[in-house]
Amino acid sequence: MSIQPHGGVLINRFIQSPSDLEKSLACAATLPRIKVDAYASFDIDGIAKGLFSPLTGFMNEEQTLRVLDSMELAPGIPWSIPILLAVSEEEAQSLEPGTPVAIEDDRGEVVAILHLASKFRLDKKNLCEKVYRTSDTAHPGVAYTYSMGDVFLAGDIDVLRDREVEFQDYNLTPVQTRAAFEERKWRRVVAFQTRNPIHRAHEYLTKCALEMCDGLLIHPLMGTTKSDDIPGDVRMRCYQVLLEKYYPQEHVLLSIMPVNMRYAGPREAIMHAIIRKNYGCTHFIVGRDHAGVGNYYGSYDAHYIFEEVDPVALGITPIFFDHTFYSKRTGEMASKKTCPGTAEEHVMLSGTKVREMLNRGEAPPVEFTRPEVAKVLIDWALGTAGS
Ligand code: ADX
Repeated sequence: MSIQPHGGVLINRFIQSPSDLEKSLACAATLPRIKVDAYASFDIDGIAKGLFSPLTGFMNEEQTLRVLDSMELAPGIPWSIPILLAVSEEEAQSLEPGTPVAIEDDRGEVVAILHLASKFRLDKKNLCEKVYRTSDTAHPGVAYTYSMGDVFLAGDIDVLRDREVEFQDYNLTPVQTRAAFEERKWRRVVAFQTRNPIHRAHEYLTKCALEMCDGLLIHPLMGTTKSDDIPGDVRMRCYQVLLEKYYPQEHVLLSIMPVNMRYAGPREAIMHAIIRKNYGCTHFIVGRDHAGVGNYYGSYDAHYIFEEVDPVALGITPIFFDHTFYSKRTGEMASKKTCPGTAEEHVMLSGTKVREMLNRGEAPPVEFTRPEVAKVLIDWALGTAGS
């Protein structure tokens, strides 16, 4: 028996029958239309496929304030980050609650019909301070929030088209990952969220967790990310070369998660766990500075926030890890919990340092990155990928 989706039902907001689809497409052509960006397009796709179950559309004011103030979508249903759709004041003027609205995505296609139930405004500073713990516009999530329109549109959506992405073959839906786990007879499945190439520290976390579970879902985030994150295609090659050689195929599944990176640290850790529950996972890895950016969060804030949520209502078990590194003394990956020694005996590299090495065509040490992964990264950094 697989794990229950969040809120009990796995949502599917795609219009199912070809005749209904035909009618909806014709109807959409006659409706008032709004155009949204890639970020909102990914959110629409996530709602449609049930990644955000039990959400059936964009949140209203009451739900949003409840999420901000109590981290609940409804009583007994934990939720940490509002899923919102915004338009400008100008665009909002012609939209009337009770009248459906056609949504055109960033690729110029009409992808959904919003059953507009209400329009509302939010105090964006409060929104940012609750979600991101800062209102500093240097934070990418805050910057995005301030760039959004000022009128929020709430209502259920019916979705007309699947959003195809790069690596579509790896873009399994929650229904498909659940079926894959069932087929492999995995009862305890741990998910690993990542937006980076997998270095030795990540590999260690995933393998420690896998020792306690039947299967591992390597689940890189592939929605919108900030411009200086490593591009998805490069990361994907890193995952492939690593899995080929260093993981047992029968216990690992690589699939992507088409969800935007919000850089909301602790609140995003909860969100990431809920989404993986919907994908059918029972456990979720939360390491050091999960979903963090800059110095906005303490290293373990994303662990502490789970104490604020009822574990039964959350329904997926977090597995916490301390900062991990290679220990020269013990000759293995470890954390301060598992090895003695001083900082000089620990191999830890900052992202900036790694980037500098790659730009010089220098591979980071094997204690930090597997050579196969280093090669993919160097090829990319030197602009020679694929040559
Ligand atoms: S994240 O934005 O997706 O969190 P990243 O891909 O770097 O970024 O991290 C993926 C997961 O590995 C997160 O749970 C993060 O906390 C964890 N992690 C990354 N590096 C380390 C490390 N050196 N020690 C412990 N956990 C780590």
